[in-house]
Amino acid sequence: MSTFVPADPFELVIFGATGDLAMRKLLPALYHRDRDDQFSDDSIIIGASRSELSRDVYIEQVHAALVEHANLDEIDEPTWQRFAARIHYCAVDITRDTTWASLSDVLATESARVRVFYLATMPSLFGDTALQIANAGLVTDNSRIVVEKPLGRDRSTASAINDKLLSVFDENQIYRIDHYLGKETVQNLSALRFANALFEPLWNRAHIDHVQITVAEKLGVGSRGSYYDKAGALRDMVQNHLLQLLCLVAMEPPSSQHHDDIRNEKLKVLKALKPITREDVKRKTARGQYAAGAIDNKVVNSFFDDLDDEEPSNTETFVAIKAEVENWRWSGTPFYLRTGKRLATKCSEIVVQFKPVAHNIYGADAGDLEANRLTIRLQPDEGVQLSIMSKQPGPGTLQLRPVPLNLSFSETFQLRYPDAYERLLMEVFRGNPGLFMRGDEVDAAWEWIDQIIASWEQTRMPAEAYSAGSWGPKNALVMLDRDGREWHNTRRID
Ligand code: BG6
Repeated sequence: MSTFVPADPFELVIFGATGDLAMRKLLPALYHRDRDDQFSDDSIIIGASRSELSRDVYIEQVHAALVEHANLDEIDEPTWQRFAARIHYCAVDITRDTTWASLSDVLATESARVRVFYLATMPSLFGDTALQIANAGLVTDNSRIVVEKPLGRDRSTASAINDKLLSVFDENQIYRIDHYLGKETVQNLSALRFANALFEPLWNRAHIDHVQITVAEKLGVGSRGSYYDKAGALRDMVQNHLLQLLCLVAMEPPSSQHHDDIRNEKLKVLKALKPITREDVKRKTARGQYAAGAIDNKVVNSFFDDLDDEEPSNTETFVAIKAEVENWRWSGTPFYLRTGKRLATKCSEIVVQFKPVAHNIYGADAGDLEANRLTIRLQPDEGVQLSIMSKQPGPGTLQLRPVPLNLSFSETFQLRYPDAYERLLMEVFRGNPGLFMRGDEVDAAWEWIDQIIASWEQTRMPAEAYSAGSWGPKNALVMLDRDGREWHNTRRID
């Protein structure tokens, strides 16, 4: 059984405390960790935002958010009372120096306490908020700052934010969140590779034909249309979540669990990504935008209608990429990435397609020999599935067919799956930046993405319409077809 190790006493300040991220994710995650007794009595949570609210009103809002988002049948009263007692509220306008005094008053003068500033605000405010925190004299040796993705919209804007953060905090005090790194199954990817002797000898170009990484969503852009129209799927999902997954699959074994050992290996993968130039952008990428369609028998709008804009948009809500990692381990083994909104189903998975056996001794009558495939399902129905060839039981002629070796984590471990933010927040309190992106990783990821965006712009590559509820635009299928491969569409192999 894993044990719950309490965090050292902390002061957590959440900027953007009344916003969607704080209410839907951060406060429910904190409540769950408190419920498991991981917080000392003197740890406090301070909500900070521009709204002039009393502490009581804010606490009522938090209670309503827990009822809606904590995934519990009921909020247990004694735990809630303990949690509510930690909550404070300060009205702070981060653009005005005069409003910071209330926050300084709540924070302890004693500097040894872990102090965390969580910026659940618009990314354009990250740099200036860090400077204001410093101006207000709130940074201690034991302070940390947490910033959400997206960090910038290209390498230069990301660097400008990073420079401001680094003018106040050391690199190891900056926690850049990619919530995929906090997902239980993403952590399991490393356990699968480095805690088992079985896979590592086969984990290379000699035995793996290709890898597919899919993050498919049924949802559309919802109320985030104005952000999303400026970002698109490449910036919103590939620059961070999909590239981080690619790194975890492709990286060399780190020499230890130390955060820099892992991040150094991930960085090498990002730097080994072959640039996608204007000459090959049309073969190696596909862009799509959802048109109206049906999902779960319900008619849904097009992206254009969701935006409610006058002008048509060329923003991609789907992207597929053939990524190549140019090193000895992976040369010639492509990584196909795809992500999109309003697709047929919600699923995130990594499919490792092995090469076929060297020689078929069975002959045509026994059936086709399918190459082995390892599927790591990140969500939903988290688990690992290995497809192997097996003899069909019974008398008669020998027949072979693929069967799944199926490990379902929920059935095997029968535990509640914690939300990614629960783990990530605890790692911040503990001072372990291993599950967060280092500045140079963010830069390297942007460098590769910037080149793709430039190639799209130079070739004026349009976003091809796909029906909501489908698996994306035709070009994504053609991209694999050209290589004699196909997307693994279904979540199960049986
Ligand atoms: C976020 C993106 O980072 O990840 C969203 O901004 C996306 O557009 C979300 O919907 C997907 O996260 P998850 O955990 O639901 O796969």
